[in-house]
Amino acid sequence: MKNHGAIVRESFIVTIDGPAGSGKTTVSRLVAEGLGFDYVDTGALYRGVAYTAVNANIGLDDDGALDRLCRSLTIRMVREKDGLHIFVNEADVSGKIRTPDISMAASTVSARPVVRRYLLKLQRDLGRDRQAVFEGRDMGTVVFPDADVKFFLDADIKVRAERRHREMTHGHDVTIEQVQEDMMRRDKNDSSRTVAPLKASADAVYVDTTDLPIPQVVDLMIAHVSDRLGQGAVP
Ligand code: DC
Repeated sequence: MKNHGAIVRESFIVTIDGPAGSGKTTVSRLVAEGLGFDYVDTGALYRGVAYTAVNANIGLDDDGALDRLCRSLTIRMVREKDGLHIFVNEADVSGKIRTPDISMAASTVSARPVVRRYLLKLQRDLGRDRQAVFEGRDMGTVVFPDADVKFFLDADIKVRAERRHREMTHGHDVTIEQVQEDMMRRDKNDSSRTVAPLKASADAVYVDTTDLPIPQVVDLMIAHVSDRLGQGAVP
C-alpha cells in the first residue's frame, strides 16, 4: 500500500464533487491511482439505474416502479485492465451508459428520492473500511459528510463543454453548442433538485480547473491528501 511516508488509517475517504466536464472523472481516477486508493464513480451507478429503467420502459418519474426496480437490482463495480466496469444484474453495461440519452435519463432519475435512497445505502456500503476516492455530486454533502478530504471541482461552462465534446467518441455527430446546451440543462436539473443538489460542501477545497492542466490539478490534490494523511499519523 502506498502511503506517501505517512501511517495510513484503515479507512480514508476522499470525495470529489462537481459538475459535468469539470475534469472530475479523469482527475479522480488519477488521484486514486497516485494514492493507491480505490476509485468509485458514483455517476455510473445513477447511469446504471437509468439505463435499466429506460430498457424496462419505466417512466422516469414513476416512483413506485423505480422503487420496485431498485429493490430488484444488483449493482457491482469491478476494476478491470481498461478501467472501471459496472455490472447491473450481472450484465456489463459499461459501454452503454455514456450516451447523451442516458446522461439526461440519469440526471432525471437522480432527482427521485427513491433512487437516491437506494444508492445512498449502496454507496455507504461501498465506502466501508476502504481507502477510496468517491466521485459524484453529493459525496461531500450527503453521502460522506465526515469524509477525510473533500474537493469541489469546477470550470467555466465553455471549457467544460469543449472537454466533454472532445471525450465523446461520437463527437462528430454533435456540435459543441449542443453539448453546452445539454450540459446547462443537466447542471440546472442537478443543482435545483430538492434532494441532495449539486453544491460544494462548506468544508470542501474548491479547485477551478478552467486554466489548470490536469497533471497540475492532480498534483495539488494529491499533495493536499498526503498532508492530511501525514497529520493523521501524528500521535
Ligand atoms: O457524473 P455523471 O455525469 O456520470 O453523472 C450522471 C448523472 O447522475 C448526473 O447528471 C447527476 C447524477 N448524479 C448524482 O445525482 N449524484 C451523484 N453522486 C452522481 C451522479
